[in-house]
Amino acid sequence: MQKNNSVLIINGPNLNLLGNRENKIYGRTTLKKLNEKLKKKANLLNIYLKSFQSNSESELINKIHNSKKNINYMIINLAAFTHTSIAIRDALISVEIPFIEVHISNIYSRESFRSNSWISDISKGIICGLGTYGYFLALKTIYKRLNLKNI
Ligand code: DQA
Repeated sequence: MQKNNSVLIINGPNLNLLGNRENKIYGRTTLKKLNEKLKKKANLLNIYLKSFQSNSESELINKIHNSKKNINYMIINLAAFTHTSIAIRDALISVEIPFIEVHISNIYSRESFRSNSWISDISKGIICGLGTYGYFLALKTIYKRLNLKNI
C-alpha cells in the first residue's frame, strides 16, 4: 500500500462498550462491527485503515507518537478525553498528523462540559451528532483530501 494512504482511527475511553452503552445516545452498533464496516469501505477506497481503541490516556499518547512515521491522516474520537486531555492535545501537535475529530453524539446539545474540546481548533474538521455515520464521512473526506480532490 502506498505511503500516502494510511489512515488510523483512534477511539478513546468507553468506546469499547459501543453497542452496549447508552444505546439511545450511541446506537446499537458494536465497535467490532463498526471497524469491520469501515475497513470494507476503506478497501474500496484503496485506503490502508488501522484502528486503535484504549481506555488509557498514556496508551493513546504512545499510539499517537508511534504513528508519526507511518500514518498520513487520523480519525479521532477521544471520547471523554476530548474534554480533559491537554496531554493528548500536545501529542497531536507534536506529531503533526492531520486529523478529523468525530463524535457520535452532538456534544453541543448535552451537558455543558461536553461543549469544550481541547482538540477541535487543531483538527482539520469536526463531525458530531451524526451517529457512527460520522466515521464514514470522515473516511470519505480523507480519501478525497489524500487524493488531492478539492475539499
Ligand atoms: C463522545 C462524546 C463524549 O462527550 C463522551 O465522553 C464519549 C463519546 C461521542 O462520540 O459522542 O464517550 O465522544
